[in-house]
Amino acid sequence: MMKLVEEFGTPLRITYLPIVGKNIARAKRWFHEAAEKTQFRGRYNYCYVTKSSHFHHITSEVLKHGALIETSSAYDLDIVRHLVDQGEMKQDARVICNGFKPENYLQRILDLREEGISGLTPIIDNLDEWQKLSARATQPMDVGIRIATEEEPKFAFYTSRLGLGYHRILPLYQDAIKDHPHLTLRMLHFFVNTGIRDTAYYWNELNKALDLYVKLRKICPTLTALNIGGGLPTKNSLAFEYDYAYMFEAILEQVAMKCDDAKVPHPDIYTEFGSFTVGEAGATLFQVLHQKRQNDRERWNMIDSSFMTTLPDSWAVNHRFLMLPLNRWMDSYERVFLGGLTCDSDDYYNSEQHINAIYLPTFKPDQPLFLGFFHTGAYQDNIGGHGGVHHCLIPGLRHILIEDAEDGTFECREFCESQPSTQVLGLLGYDANNTNQSVAIRLQREEHVES
Ligand SMILES: Cc1ncc(COP(=O)(O)O)c(C=O)c1O
Repeated sequence: MMKLVEEFGTPLRITYLPIVGKNIARAKRWFHEAAEKTQFRGRYNYCYVTKSSHFHHITSEVLKHGALIETSSAYDLDIVRHLVDQGEMKQDARVICNGFKPENYLQRILDLREEGISGLTPIIDNLDEWQKLSARATQPMDVGIRIATEEEPKFAFYTSRLGLGYHRILPLYQDAIKDHPHLTLRMLHFFVNTGIRDTAYYWNELNKALDLYVKLRKICPTLTALNIGGGLPTKNSLAFEYDYAYMFEAILEQVAMKCDDAKVPHPDIYTEFGSFTVGEAGATLFQVLHQKRQNDRERWNMIDSSFMTTLPDSWAVNHRFLMLPLNRWMDSYERVFLGGLTCDSDDYYNSEQHINAIYLPTFKPDQPLFLGFFHTGAYQDNIGGHGGVHHCLIPGLRHILIEDAEDGTFECREFCESQPSTQVLGLLGYDANNTNQSVAIRLQREEHVES
């Protein structure tokens, strides 16, 4: 890590690409081992959720390791088109089209299907969507239905806004999908917001989804796939413990048991792992610039960027990342708070009080201190924005891609430089050669005459 810092400086974002393939392979291995133990007969399809990191270097890596793609919006489908055109993705590879579908997303699905991308599998989110799709589909296409799961009791609402309520799904199949000339029900989709956890809530929701699956499977012979969504966690602290192999086994055991009891075939399983695929591939490196002591107890180590803009999940949803000093490990330590460069009082990083306070090598002005936040590869760029204009105009980070080279060394290449001021000012309309030719539209002011 210090070599990277010496070579490329901080603040720095790195992506170590080999982790992506390694994690896909790990999940496939857990599935196959679990399937053997539980005598599960369905196949496994690993999908990657592009929303967790849309970068081409990630989708490319994912496809090289045999994963399928899940999309969430119209522009995502333009990524699919691009990948197919470049020969990185097969024209008939299954693409799970999830999410609520406004007109542009729905139309893009239909257009791509017309253009011959035949594996698109829209997951029906609501009845209106089904009506539009069913009225306009002219080509054979598999569809799925997403179950609206019940939220954990601590949530502000009971039922997820995504998907269709349990009681609507059988009637939708019987009254509409069953006899549709082009659309075939292939998949039931189930995803709980809080992820795949060994909790009574998760097992209860899975159980309800499986009850529905077997009921539907009995009347719908084309239903061969169960999609259990994403939510496989990544290590977010050194104390993190999660038995991945056990969870795979426990899930397959439940699915096999339900299907055997109901005498229906085991489904093919689809997962849509975003964080798990790409989270561990990313790290964000900072230098401590200065220490401010505001009273006898609080020491603020100021970093050379912003948490709000580079690790937005750390303030928005209080997500914790694995954090370690990169140098001076054998030095004395002190308890600190970490402060970001924006003027926002929320731009700081502190672990949960009294549980995991941050201890770092003692600040010394003449001995630079560097920090690494690890497993930051998922969602941070998409939520904080890549390029663009950030809070207090804190520039986007320099980003380095790292791959394993043949002789045991690492090959590093710059994906983007630290965001230059000209780019930011240009986006804000301060472009000296402003060539914005858009035509002004004048709207007539309506006169309201009081009678
Ligand atoms: C439908 C769906 N599938 C998969 C995922 C990926 O979740 P994760 O990144 O936790 O694996 C999400 C995340 O929001 C999602 O909405």
